[in-house]
Amino acid sequence: MTTLLTGGAGFIGSHMSALLLEYEHDFVVVDNLTNSDVSQLKKLEKFFKKKIPFHKIDIRDKSSMKTIFDRYEIDSVIHFAGLKAVNESVNEPKLYHDNNVVGSECLIELVCKYNIKNFIFSSSATVYGEPVYLPIDEDHPLKAMSPYGQNKIDIEKLIIDNPFFNTRCATKILRYFNPVGAYNNGLIGEIPRGIPNNLMPYLLGVVNGTYPYLQVFGDDYKTNDGTPIRDYIHVMDLVEAHLMALQDNKLGIDIYNVGNGKGVSVMEMIKAFEKVNKIEVPYKIMPRREGDVESCYANNKKIGEVLNWKAKHNISDICKDAYLFSQQLKK
Ligand code: NAD
Ligand code: WQD
Repeated sequence: MTTLLTGGAGFIGSHMSALLLEYEHDFVVVDNLTNSDVSQLKKLEKFFKKKIPFHKIDIRDKSSMKTIFDRYEIDSVIHFAGLKAVNESVNEPKLYHDNNVVGSECLIELVCKYNIKNFIFSSSATVYGEPVYLPIDEDHPLKAMSPYGQNKIDIEKLIIDNPFFNTRCATKILRYFNPVGAYNNGLIGEIPRGIPNNLMPYLLGVVNGTYPYLQVFGDDYKTNDGTPIRDYIHVMDLVEAHLMALQDNKLGIDIYNVGNGKGVSVMEMIKAFEKVNKIEVPYKIMPRREGDVESCYANNKKIGEVLNWKAKHNISDICKDAYLFSQQLKK
């Protein structure tokens, strides 16, 4: 039996691939490579001495996708594929709706047709918008702050409103907080395309000399040191949550936050990075970034209690692994 990973060549999908290879779990990757290339999968193939079945397909191409469902005995699907740049979604809302929501609709049609037993969808903490209370639990009201966030809410609704997912499939909606870090001493990691928007990829660009300093977007928030707080989760902890979700065959839909449950400020991240990697991170305080929330961190009790998942990595591990990966990239 085989698991289909849509978007499996990307950051989180390639780390999922690494974990599935460790567990000798059969899988096939489908990705249109709009935001990735096959380099990470190639590295894994070399390391594990195993071929990864890969097909360059867009999930909206239903006939090609059908050949994948026909060819492999797919019994589970992890749906990572999607565009994820918040700013880009503001400029290109139609593109985002078409790729993310219409793409998911096409996939869902096949998931139902092929009676898939387990389905996992990559949602995001962005669906919560500006937090009304902290830590955020799964019952927190949803409010999109960008077309990307609206896409995630729309896709969740497509799943929730579909009787197949409620009665015939073990369905998990995982709302990720801020995934960072890398696999196995930096064998694979996140390769940002263009100038990174996210904190860790930009910070890595600074310590590797691409950018002169990190811009810290605001130090006048009502937090311990004035900089915004997020819930950074090691990507290997995140993909482990998927493996646990895949092993739970209870029919119906469960929604889980996947976060460390601990808030870390931008300054705390910089200090942790400097300490564990023994390297200075030059930074400048800049004005606030539009659309940023002050604090966002998870109540992760539900996934701990129901799936027995627990994050194993702390912020130092995250900073160490991310740096190791960026060092590998330079070689
Ligand atoms: P990524 O861009 O590295 O990976 C997504 C992959 O999907 C890419 O390889 C891309 O080429 C592929 N893709 C996009 N549209 C496709 C399409 N129509 N058909 C086939 N392939 C397509 O992003 P990631 O960080 O690995 O994110 C994976 C998923 O997790 C996304 O759905 C994202 O929205 C979600 N998510 C990510 C984060 C984060 O901060 N990284 C946080 C919350 C949720
Ligand atoms: C973290 C903190 C910035 C860059 C985004 C998406 C969200 C989700 C994860 C997919 C913030 C600060 C950042 C920099 C900085 N993705 N920062 N200098 O904003 O929490 O979430 O990625 O679902 O949808 O919105 O993550 O890494 O961009 O920012 O000071 O150069 O770092 O202000 O406080 P964010 P981020």
